[in-house]
Amino acid sequence: MNEIAADFASPRATAQFWAGTVRWTGAALVAMVWLSAIVFGAYILSFYGGAWLGGAAEHWNHRAEPPRLFDRSAPMANIGIGLHFLAGSILLFLGPVQLIGAVRRRVPKLHRWTGRLYASSAVLAGLGGLVYILLKGTIGGMPMNIAFALYGALLALAAFHTARHARARRFEAHRAWAIRLFALAIASWLYRIEYTAWRVLAGGVGHTATFDGPFDLVMLYFFFVPNLALAEIVVRAKRSDAGAALLAATALLQLTATLALAVLTYFLTMRAWGPAIAAAWTGA
Ligand code: HEM
Repeated sequence: MNEIAADFASPRATAQFWAGTVRWTGAALVAMVWLSAIVFGAYILSFYGGAWLGGAAEHWNHRAEPPRLFDRSAPMANIGIGLHFLAGSILLFLGPVQLIGAVRRRVPKLHRWTGRLYASSAVLAGLGGLVYILLKGTIGGMPMNIAFALYGALLALAAFHTARHARARRFEAHRAWAIRLFALAIASWLYRIEYTAWRVLAGGVGHTATFDGPFDLVMLYFFFVPNLALAEIVVRAKRSDAGAALLAATALLQLTATLALAVLTYFLTMRAWGPAIAAAWTGA
């Protein structure tokens, strides 16, 4: 009895307990990110895809002032942004499926095919966005043009290297680039989540309708650079010899992030994504 109690209290048992907690809180976080991204993808397909299929692509301009996303006089820019909507939605729906070890081991064929689709969608989302920026420019002007163009180029580059290393069977490098690609692919979704968090927490101070306020300028890089930095940490953390304190902090952080995402996704779904999806499907 005493031995069992002593074993439970041993540093090894404590570390094992926290390692297990890190695993399930991590899985909960990934599931929450995926669920939220799927709702965002459903919004894009329902609203932008629905308007286009219904011959009313002018509705794309509902958010921008002056209306600018769809422009009859700029067909190439329309095609660019339209392809980027479609490819971006595919990225959101496929989510972290490529990173799930069980899928890779049990159905490698599925991993290869969804991998091709994921990488091609990333290149297409990047190129489509770049075409739009070159032909029309973004709502936020030159600073936003530069930041979004850099983001698009990085996304396409990460997809290219992920596929290149997979084909050459350099799996260590393939894994590293796949993690960077995923971190970049969820950045567009994170951009909306971070804006919502700011609106909820700080009333959106520093944001302007033309996306050139101080908060908007920070956001130009904040939605993808921290993700990339985190991806680098994951890539380099090959073995886990972390102590119980670090594991406990990671578990707590993951749990907090999951709960925060649940609240923010609820707000976005109730106020923006949900009504747009419902309107597209009911014709209201
Ligand atoms: C997962 C990938 C992506 C998704 C899901 C996505 C989604 C969207 C959506 C829904 C909009 C319309 C505005 C809104 O309703 O919020 C938009 C606008 C835009 N996106 Fe993306 N996007 C992605 C990746 C990219 C990339 C890689 C680039 C850069 C090359 C890019 C550049 C743009 C630009 C320039 C606009 C128009 C901004 C303006 O109003 O001026 N996007 N995106």
